[in-house]
Amino acid sequence: MTSKGFIFDLDGVIVDTAKYHFMAWKRLAELLGIGFSNELIEQFKGVSRVRCLEILLLNSNYEFTSYEFEKWLVEKNKIYLELISRVDETVILPGVMNVMNFLRSESIPMAIGSASKNAKRILSQVGIDTFFDAIVDGNVVSEAKPDPEVFRIAAEQIRMDSKDCIVFEDSMAGIEAANRAGMTSIAIGKSNKLSKAHYRFNDFTEIQINFINQLIQKI
Ligand code: G6P
Ligand code: MG
Repeated sequence: MTSKGFIFDLDGVIVDTAKYHFMAWKRLAELLGIGFSNELIEQFKGVSRVRCLEILLLNSNYEFTSYEFEKWLVEKNKIYLELISRVDETVILPGVMNVMNFLRSESIPMAIGSASKNAKRILSQVGIDTFFDAIVDGNVVSEAKPDPEVFRIAAEQIRMDSKDCIVFEDSMAGIEAANRAGMTSIAIGKSNKLSKAHYRFNDFTEIQINFINQLIQKI
């Protein structure tokens, strides 16, 4: 039996879908006639749908009702679902399967810790849902990242202590959440905003199985 568990964020870590979230927000902003800057890319990563819309509207001086707010959330998701409707295993990011296959061959528990309410749909569409012993997503949590709740629930579900969990994340909010949960955080991505992670790699192709083995054996 191993004494470690691995928790993966989904969008931008396992699958290359962060760009579709971003495209959908951009399109919604256009529909509303709201300005949109590329600087929002990092801010939107890992952040709940509601929080993304709040950020989008923050500087817009837009008057809106709660009914409209809800309507726009639905609209964004409609655009997003249309964009991802035909995605398949080709959206899996390079090198991820190598690590996941290794962990599975060693019977090491794996979980998803994602803010997305579409996580299960994407995982099954891409054909990798069976890799995970727990899927904790935006439908389960009440507090969004950077709150550690999503990772704490994932650890509980795979029956691991927080200190024995290793989290892969591509967002600032997610790294903060993992650190606050007392887990080992591994950032995936090039942004210098990820510097609070314990480790950082540009992508999974840089992660050697040796490194994973060391993490597993670390006391
Ligand atoms: C992920 C993405 C965020 C997205 C959030 C909610 O964490 O990184 O950009 O806003 O999930 O996704 P959803 O599919 O529920 O709108
Ligand atoms: Mg992400």
